[in-house]
Amino acid sequence: MNIIRRRGWEIPESQITPEHLAFDRRRFLIGGASALALSASLAPGAAHADDAPDPTANLYPAKRNETYKLDRPITDEKINAHYNNFYEFNSSKEVADQAQKLPIRPWTVKIDGLVEKPIEIGVDDLIRKMGIEERAYRHRCVEAWSMAIAWSGFPLAKLVAFAKPTSGAKFLKMETFLNPKVAPGQRQTWFPWPYVEGLSMAEATNDLAFIATGAYGHPMAKQHGAPLRLAVPWKYGFKSIKSIVRFSFVDKQPIGMWQSLQAAEYGFWANVNPKVPHPRWSQATEEVIGTGERKPTLLFNGYGEFVADIYKGMDGERLWA
Ligand code: MTE
Repeated sequence: MNIIRRRGWEIPESQITPEHLAFDRRRFLIGGASALALSASLAPGAAHADDAPDPTANLYPAKRNETYKLDRPITDEKINAHYNNFYEFNSSKEVADQAQKLPIRPWTVKIDGLVEKPIEIGVDDLIRKMGIEERAYRHRCVEAWSMAIAWSGFPLAKLVAFAKPTSGAKFLKMETFLNPKVAPGQRQTWFPWPYVEGLSMAEATNDLAFIATGAYGHPMAKQHGAPLRLAVPWKYGFKSIKSIVRFSFVDKQPIGMWQSLQAAEYGFWANVNPKVPHPRWSQATEEVIGTGERKPTLLFNGYGEFVADIYKGMDGERLWA
């Protein structure tokens, strides 16, 4: 039971598996106890969602916004496509096949709570209204690994402006789809589904906060959180909620899914800080997936010049996960 419930990142740094070994371990798992869980998705003829062609496909590739520079190459797309966290499907890194079952059209996004007028809008209308650009961001998981990705999408601030929150709105709460029929992880009732995450209004309107609709110059692969996911690269990856169906403006700090499961380990702010270890492992360095390298982790994942001001005067808060 313990093993099944255990999250991928609940391992000390000394036990973090180099990627080539992780792939071997996966092969072992597929042949072993996890075969049951995976067999449904790997079986020939497994039912996959039969999506209509993406009506926004002609928007890609989008023009790169050069404000945000990388200190490393973009992670190979093939590696990135098979090293994901998406607990709605399973708790291994190999979720790509299972995630294909998620139907992503039609996809309606609800914008509600403390707004002038609640809105429901189809994702394609939303994307066309917002327009898209490309941004290359680092991505640092709380498990002490990292990647670099060229996302396409739009600043979350644009969606906030479109939503017209009232002055009472202090936080933005986001929710992932709830569909246990296609997402086997959501049949595990000890998780408080749906996945929820939140940002303060200052964070949500910071230019770095991005809603990604694509990656690698085309609409996003389902395992990355299509058709709409958050990318907040100065925070640990669990804040970057995937496959969003709802944005609610609220006056109280939302409680994220991991926070509600284990508040001692996963907080609301979850900003990257190499000097603040996770209760069970160091955050000082990160494995750069696909390179075999370990790099020192940077404060705010290297994005301090854009976001550090948000947290001025908040020293009493637990700002780091
Ligand atoms: N969003 C949902 N809905 N479900 C998840 O399991 N995992 C989070 C985050 N968003 C997760 C999620 C974690 S822990 C990480 S590190 C990133 O997604 C992983 O994103 P990637 O698979 O695109 O690298």
